[in-house]
Amino acid sequence: MLLVDDGRVLAALDILFKEIAHADERYEAGGLSTVVTRRESRGHGLGRRLVVAARETMMERKLDLGLFTCDSPLQVFYESAGWRVLPGAVLIGGTPQAPFPSDQSGFDKVTMGDFFSPKARQAEALFRDSRIGLYSGEIDKLW
Ligand SMILES: CC(C)(COP(=O)(O)OP(=O)(O)OC[C@H]1O[C@@H](n2cnc3c(N)ncnc32)[C@H](O)[C@@H]1OP(=O)(O)O)[C@@H](O)C(=O)NCCC(=O)NCCS
Repeated sequence: MLLVDDGRVLAALDILFKEIAHADERYEAGGLSTVVTRRESRGHGLGRRLVVAARETMMERKLDLGLFTCDSPLQVFYESAGWRVLPGAVLIGGTPQAPFPSDQSGFDKVTMGDFFSPKARQAEALFRDSRIGLYSGEIDKLW
């Protein structure tokens, strides 16, 4: 998604999609990646506008849930755009053979998310304090 003004990209992000398995159930998940606002345009609410729009897009696409990690100082930024912290949740990216967890040494990440479908809302508690196998592969190693 791009936020464009007069032909100039002011902010951008990627929405990534994947079916995940968690606690004996499968979910259509979406996540945010490469969220960025042009340096000179930061602090004017543009990042938030785009992240809010991404959440709405995930709901329109009838995903079960949104899930992604961010550096912990950015938790308030994502919360201001409607996302919530999943306390104690760790996302495991990479592959089953070469896992890339969000709690590895040197990382200071929190897992953010939201539950859209009734199935996901019912299972919300199962995502807290849990390790979630995202296995997003070798390119977008972790959302
Ligand atoms: C993070 C980033 C996308 C925020 O974009 P932005 O357009 O400046 O954000 P907004 O103006 O919409 O900010 C929304 C709210 O989040 C807060 N916020 C924004 N960036 C923040 C940061 N780095 N740390 C803490 N809070 C931040 C703002 O203070 C604002 O709150 P307020 O309305 O109460 O003032 C931008 O700083 C950026 O591109 N950073 C470099 C890339 C990056 O770190 N991306 C995130 C990858 S997970």
